[in-house]
Amino acid sequence: MTQDEMKRKAAEAAAEYVVADEIVGVGTGSTVNHFIDVLADMKSTIEGAVSSSEASTRLMQERGIQVFDLNQVSNIPVYIDGADESDHYLNLIKGGGGALTREKIIAGASDKFVCIADESKLVDVMGTFPLPVEVIPMARSYIARELVKLGGRPVWRENFVTDNGCDILDVHDLQIMEPVKLENEINKMAGVVTVGLFCNRPADVLILGTPDGAKTVMPKS
Ligand code: 5RP
Repeated sequence: MTQDEMKRKAAEAAAEYVVADEIVGVGTGSTVNHFIDVLADMKSTIEGAVSSSEASTRLMQERGIQVFDLNQVSNIPVYIDGADESDHYLNLIKGGGGALTREKIIAGASDKFVCIADESKLVDVMGTFPLPVEVIPMARSYIARELVKLGGRPVWRENFVTDNGCDILDVHDLQIMEPVKLENEINKMAGVVTVGLFCNRPADVLILGTPDGAKTVMPKS
């Protein structure tokens, strides 16, 4: 089975978490694109969606799914999104697609966060995938120097501008042993918009696509 087929399996399994007649939060990325296909087939059963990126908004609107502005909705029972890495506590690295800030906002505004991914994304220690950090453009070099002090090797994602008009630094060579501490440390640097560590608000459920079908992983306690 290909990685994309495993992503599809995870996306299909997420359908059971969608709450009838309610708003669903929708993330960004190739796994979520499969979920948007699934959602399109059940769009008459939901009120609509809130979106974490211009790309997901466009795709949902093309599929006839009504997309609401986050400020228009007060209750999001479930948020479905992918990840670049997850540890066994369901701490995540996100932002490979550059949508980390809006993803973190919707994850925070939702009652339940269901992460969907192929099995390669589950790791013991995060950091093999470079950690994305969205920064205000004028702060880019300053933040890069601060990230070097934390032991990382930041690389500017050139020719990429986020939906919020900001830059991304991808931080290589980290072994993230204390994810909450690192999230807090990077968050407090002036000029950081969002760090792609989702640990203060991890996923509640991880659905992994595997060659044997979708497997549900709950956070290790
Ligand atoms: C986008 C994200 C994605 O969820 C993450 O990059 C995973 O993407 P994919 O489903 O394409 O593997 O965080 O900002």
